[in-house]
Amino acid sequence: MSDNLPLLLRAARGESVERPPVWMMRQAGRYMKVYRDLRDRHPSFRERSENPDLSYEISMQPFKAFKPDGVILFSDILTPLPGMGIDFDIIESKGPVIQDPIRSTNQINALRNLEPDETMPFVGEVLSRLRGSVGTEAAVLGFVGAPWTLAAYVVEGKSSKNYAIIKAMAFQEPKTLHKLLDHFAKSIASYLCYQIDSGAQVVQMFDSWAGQLSPTDYDTFAAPYQKKVIDLVKTTHPETPMILYISGSAGVLERMGKTGVDIVSLDWTVDMAEGCARLPDHVGVQGNVDPGLLFGSHEMIRSRIVDVVSKAKGRRHILNLGHGILPGTPEDSAKVFFEAGKSVNQLLKDSSSH
Ligand code: CP3
Repeated sequence: MSDNLPLLLRAARGESVERPPVWMMRQAGRYMKVYRDLRDRHPSFRERSENPDLSYEISMQPFKAFKPDGVILFSDILTPLPGMGIDFDIIESKGPVIQDPIRSTNQINALRNLEPDETMPFVGEVLSRLRGSVGTEAAVLGFVGAPWTLAAYVVEGKSSKNYAIIKAMAFQEPKTLHKLLDHFAKSIASYLCYQIDSGAQVVQMFDSWAGQLSPTDYDTFAAPYQKKVIDLVKTTHPETPMILYISGSAGVLERMGKTGVDIVSLDWTVDMAEGCARLPDHVGVQGNVDPGLLFGSHEMIRSRIVDVVSKAKGRRHILNLGHGILPGTPEDSAKVFFEAGKSVNQLLKDSSSH
């Protein structure tokens, strides 16, 4: 037992804990009025995420409002790209834009290896300040995008519906794509190590768009590079729990469990009990409440949390949504989600006595 460590860290390491810890993907952001007000004063996403004072302040907004068990760095999966020589911007209501999409071997050869301490010192600064501020009340979470999802953005040049351009590359010039994925795997691994050295206690890898791949292509273009990142990080930082998230992962859950990751984050299209049964016992689970549930009644939010937590009972479990909280979600509902998560033992008792 290590009571002097945050609950989320103890749970993620597989210690037996008093209740599942709770945080939310995208917990800092547009659904919060304090965030929208700050965004009015600082309209550039790059500024909000790369100015350490702003990134720190935004990371702390949900902690101040709801006291979740985890505080995630306010940043983006695309933030490391400029350090590799790829410029990007995030345009309001349009999403990420890469001015010069990567489509050729020459462009890939010109990419730089990421040196996070040189090109992104703001991340290290924010993580160490967060650690100082939250102490043992919450765990500090770092994160990265996985190689396939990063490649999807830099090859497509923006968010995509059908991934036609990167799939054309995958199925016409697989060597070119493998070269890009391998470059990202090495750089992303050193970025994660830098985050851990700076104060991140648990880290999550988002391969948000790997659910767009057939299982065979997941095995070809996504899993080997997830595994490469995980293996590289585990070589030097074996004690840091790693979480893997994919949106639309129901078809590849068993495969996710074989990547070497400690915890698999489920989306809400998988029943929690069935998800647990499909993963080996030593792999923990995170999730998996439908983000849309937060548009429902408070009673419904509580009852679905009870459902998820009871289905994950006996398992290493971190309570979370099945994807990021949606813009427009009432802040009251976020509050109910966190409160219900923190008082879930009582809610479980109440529901079994009915
Ligand atoms: O969880 C947190 O609170 C930390 C913040 C965070 C952001 N992006 C801030 C952000 C995290 C963890 C991310 C990760 C991220 N970014 C992912 C993986 C998670 C997922 O949802 O699958 C992806 C795919 C991206 C790429 C990206 N960045 C998208 C698709 C968008 C949304 C575009 C839009 O406008 O809807 C962004 C922008 C972005 N990143 C916003 C936030 C709060 C919204 C823009 C804004 O606030 O101005």
